[in-house]
Amino acid sequence: MAGLTDSAFRRLVKRHGGCGLVVTEMVSSEGLVRGIDRTLEYAGFTEEERPVAVQIFGGDPGKMALAAQVVERLGADAVDVNMGCPVPKVAKNQAGCSLMRDPERAAAIVRAMARAVAIPVTVKMRAGWDDREMNAPELAQRLEGAGASAVIVHGRTAAQAYSGRADWALIERVARAVAIPVYGNGDCVEPDEIVRRVRELGVAGVLVGRGALRNPWIFAQAAASAAGRPIPAVSAAERRGFLLDYIDLLLVERADEPADVSHVAGREHWVIGKLRALCTWYSRGLAGGSHLRVAVNHAESIARLRAEIAQFFSSPTRP
Ligand SMILES: Cc1cc2nc3c(=O)[nH]c(=O)nc-3n(C[C@H](O)[C@H](O)[C@H](O)COP(=O)(O)O)c2cc1C
Repeated sequence: MAGLTDSAFRRLVKRHGGCGLVVTEMVSSEGLVRGIDRTLEYAGFTEEERPVAVQIFGGDPGKMALAAQVVERLGADAVDVNMGCPVPKVAKNQAGCSLMRDPERAAAIVRAMARAVAIPVTVKMRAGWDDREMNAPELAQRLEGAGASAVIVHGRTAAQAYSGRADWALIERVARAVAIPVYGNGDCVEPDEIVRRVRELGVAGVLVGRGALRNPWIFAQAAASAAGRPIPAVSAAERRGFLLDYIDLLLVERADEPADVSHVAGREHWVIGKLRALCTWYSRGLAGGSHLRVAVNHAESIARLRAEIAQFFSSPTRP
């Protein structure tokens, strides 16, 4: 998830257990091919995150094939194509969700990539463009023919963006339409929902987005539930620890960059921005969560950020 599921976040999620594949934030095929530092940073991962897929976006089959080769050289376990992003900056360049309206181009991209690399090429798509064009089953068939190894379906249309509910009946139809594994995605926020959907809906697995930002323990909890064990509760100390560990990992990542010097924003500024982004989600569902959001949004230094987080989770009225 762009801006959120960076390598540090993914490592922490994996350390808490229960999580299989993780996927990087989407990265530009153009940026990968040109070797742009920031793009390569977004595509970066560590050994403890494996198995890991790098997700790329773009609309040009030749460039996507070259970008897939860069991903393969980076050592990723799979390369995933974004066919779901509705953000205009991506969609207007015949990439992201626009590819759902252009099956010819979508298939050409997958074919070129599958020929160019030995690692699996997977596709993340939506249910369709809008409620008149719910073509995920047909597109999945076409992409299977073009060499896709698996598809992930977010059960909303591009027109819906994030409104309404994900259509899991449609996801099931996709799973029945193709022989390759189909992974469902959308609205899994409770561990039991993950287990039920994997067991009952004929999908190979479930991908969790926002639910993991709110509750990075969701995978460990789902694994416990699947094994018939009680779902472990998460203590305030663990919740505090996650955020503090995240700060530490981010700081190490940019250790070679200067901290903020007078008016020049550097490492500290970047880490604070990352924490603000995560806490927008992480605070949801917590008693008094809005206090955490406000406190984090007002913190202007790492020391202040740490103190606010420690204070929020040590208050006896908080979870
Ligand atoms: C802030 C944000 C960033 C996202 N970035 C990506 C992305 O880079 N690639 C992608 O495939 N999906 C991205 N998504 C979509 C999610 O992966 C997921 O498909 C969607 O949120 C539905 O699943 P969920 O209900 O489990 O969150 C993003 C969603 C949000 C809210």
